[in-house]
Amino acid sequence: MINAAIFASGEGSNAENLINYFKNDSRIKIKLVITNKDDAGVIARAEKHKKTVQIISKEALHSYTDQIIDFLKTEKIDLIILAGFLLKIPEKLVKAFPEKIVNIHPSLLPLYGGSGMYGMNVHKAVINNKEKQSGITVHFVNEEYDKGKIILQEKVNLSEDETPQSLATKIHELEYKYYPLAVERLL
Ligand code: GAR
Repeated sequence: MINAAIFASGEGSNAENLINYFKNDSRIKIKLVITNKDDAGVIARAEKHKKTVQIISKEALHSYTDQIIDFLKTEKIDLIILAGFLLKIPEKLVKAFPEKIVNIHPSLLPLYGGSGMYGMNVHKAVINNKEKQSGITVHFVNEEYDKGKIILQEKVNLSEDETPQSLATKIHELEYKYYPLAVERLL
């Protein structure tokens, strides 16, 4: 049985989708949900599913990385799943979990990745550049932002009148379908 921790900063709809998907799975247990925001929507979603939630601020993530690693090891966490987690993972944490941290990014990396490229910022940039397609990328996390080995990509076509909001909806639909499948490949 693999123990997983989900890290999320915002609404947490992907986090909840993963929790639901793996609810009765004997291969993986979503043991913890970690967020850096004490008002993140993911907290209520995780508590609804009786998951332990830990709030780790941006400052703590960087100042207490060793203690966080110890905590994750004590909890026997084997896999870290980033689901809308918007902070850079400290190098020490990446090194403590090599190829055991996965992320979902709402574009076709290497396009529209890197610092500042998250959530709606990505969709606005895609639309401003009049792209015909966008999509999702699931990848391992390494020391460089959005540059780890790609596990899965799925594309979606943009319509003529696409808005950042409508694109976000399309992207979320892809994420709900494919992120659990990508995680499943790692089990
Ligand atoms: C998702 O679209 C995810 O791909 C994106 O944030 C959204 C979170 O939605 N992640 C990034 O932009 C990471 N760079 P959610 O909180 O409803 O799951």
